[in-house]
Amino acid sequence: MRLAILLSGRGSNFEAIHAAIAGAKLDAEIVCVISNRPSAAGLRRARELGLDAHLIDHRSYPTREAHEADVLRAIAEANPDFICLAGYMRLLSAAFVAAYPRRILNIHPSLLPAFPGVNAQAQAIAHGVRISGCTVHFVDENLDAGPIIVQRAVPVLDDDTADTLAARILEQEHVAYVEALAALSTRTWRIDGRLVIFEPASS
Ligand code: GRF
Repeated sequence: MRLAILLSGRGSNFEAIHAAIAGAKLDAEIVCVISNRPSAAGLRRARELGLDAHLIDHRSYPTREAHEADVLRAIAEANPDFICLAGYMRLLSAAFVAAYPRRILNIHPSLLPAFPGVNAQAQAIAHGVRISGCTVHFVDENLDAGPIIVQRAVPVLDDDTADTLAARILEQEHVAYVEALAALSTRTWRIDGRLVIFEPASS
């Protein structure tokens, strides 16, 4: 399974995927890492790891379309099976999504459809939910809305702040992203409406 990773920052989900591959927990190859931000720690790490790493800085382009065209070009050259958004802080255009139907994944730090958008952990605290978590889902043309592949629940503690909750959710994100990729690569699956259906694993 060939993976393209798109990120904008810290890159801990990217590193978790990389570690799972290195530890033979995931049979995959990271064929390119693309960051839209020069300062992204994830971009630096990808370079240290000797991966095919690209900085495609959106601020260097006059339009969203022009930036996306270069991102799409880099992805096409890498020829991935799946594109993993891992803290990629850019909305993808409908044309981008349509170019890779059911092949773009995202991770979001809440149990969608609760708390889409930014600061999901702070939204969960502000709402007073007792359980939050993370979601790995396919990307469609709407924000944080495509069919759900994996979710992991995380209890919200009385003394949680957005930061303490985010840290515990992040641990589960790393498990969930690898779990989702492993399931997509090793099992037969289909999408029926909003449902991602995995056939029972054969014994
Ligand atoms: C994660 O919380 C992820 O759910 C959200 O952005 C954050 C990225 O973290 N989409 P990292 O860059 O993978 O460490």
